[in-house]
Amino acid sequence: LPPELPRVVRTLAWRGDALELLDQRRLPLEAPPLLCRSVEDVREAIRTLAVRGAPAIGVAAGYGLAIAARESSAADWPGLERDLETAAGRLRSSRPTAVNLGWALDRVLAAARAVAPGGPKEVRAAVLAEAEAIDADDRARCEAIGRAGLDLVPDGARVLTHCNAGALATAGIGTALAPVYAAHAAGREVAVLADETRPLLQGARITAWELAESGVPVTVICDGMAGYAMQRGKIDLVLVGADRIAANGDFANKIGTYAVAVLAREHGLPFYVAAPLSTFDANAPDGAAIPIEERDADEVRASRGVPFAPPDADVWNPAFDVTPARFVTAFVTDAGVLRPPFGESIAAALGA
Ligand code: MRU
Repeated sequence: LPPELPRVVRTLAWRGDALELLDQRRLPLEAPPLLCRSVEDVREAIRTLAVRGAPAIGVAAGYGLAIAARESSAADWPGLERDLETAAGRLRSSRPTAVNLGWALDRVLAAARAVAPGGPKEVRAAVLAEAEAIDADDRARCEAIGRAGLDLVPDGARVLTHCNAGALATAGIGTALAPVYAAHAAGREVAVLADETRPLLQGARITAWELAESGVPVTVICDGMAGYAMQRGKIDLVLVGADRIAANGDFANKIGTYAVAVLAREHGLPFYVAAPLSTFDANAPDGAAIPIEERDADEVRASRGVPFAPPDADVWNPAFDVTPARFVTAFVTDAGVLRPPFGESIAAALGA
């Protein structure tokens, strides 16, 4: 393995006084840079999925607080604390399911409080330093997931994935795709089947794009084709990401993941969930405690403004579903591969 796994796309970058994102909303047609100069810019970028994927949302939110610290004209700590907390509240409410968002905000707020006696200048520096540390930390966690999962992706493996848990969902090489990139870098032949991932097509638009850019063979299928692909022997294993993993191993991921997990069980295929420890929520005992985002009905009725359902059709649009832990073969994390019983292996990993 090369010491640094190659990364072809850069999801986000701090530009001295603003956060630059690769705007994912029009991928693969365009990927223009999007400069966020205010907290509201960052909030809107997260809400509208210009930046998406649990770890990337967390990193972006951390930089959102760095912007808030700059924006604030407070001359003392109580004033600055108020402004940081208001900004954290705005960012926290942008999307509810990915726990990395709150995790990153709490980390930055704690770093600010730790140096509060030093005054606003010191706090502003600490906030930016912590946001940068979260960014670097995420890159390192992705690499660790890649190495931990390498042995799960043998030569010739055909991997099914859902949504995008790749480089564009993180600051690094991704979570679910990290073992794929590691296997590819190690010279193994590995091919990916990407579920298109209705309604916003993260699989077709983003996963297919970044894998093609990386030279990893990828075949896009409609979500409804995964069962047939398994039945026809076209898939060896499933690798997906997660937005929040409860203490018992139930986890939320992009809507449609649960169906894939049930199909994998029926076909006797390993079903792996790759995520950094920052995606585990020790405060959620099981999947019932995970908040599930519901999004605008027009995402289901239309695509990029082109309607394909009656404009007033009733729609239900949960952005995520919860897969019970019993369908998970193992969690691939930056602390290694966690196997059942998950209550114990997760507690041990989080406690370490
Ligand atoms: O709505 P999205 O695109 O943010 O959903 C993303 C997912 O469901 C990913 O699988 C998850 O966040 C893990 S990303 C490493």
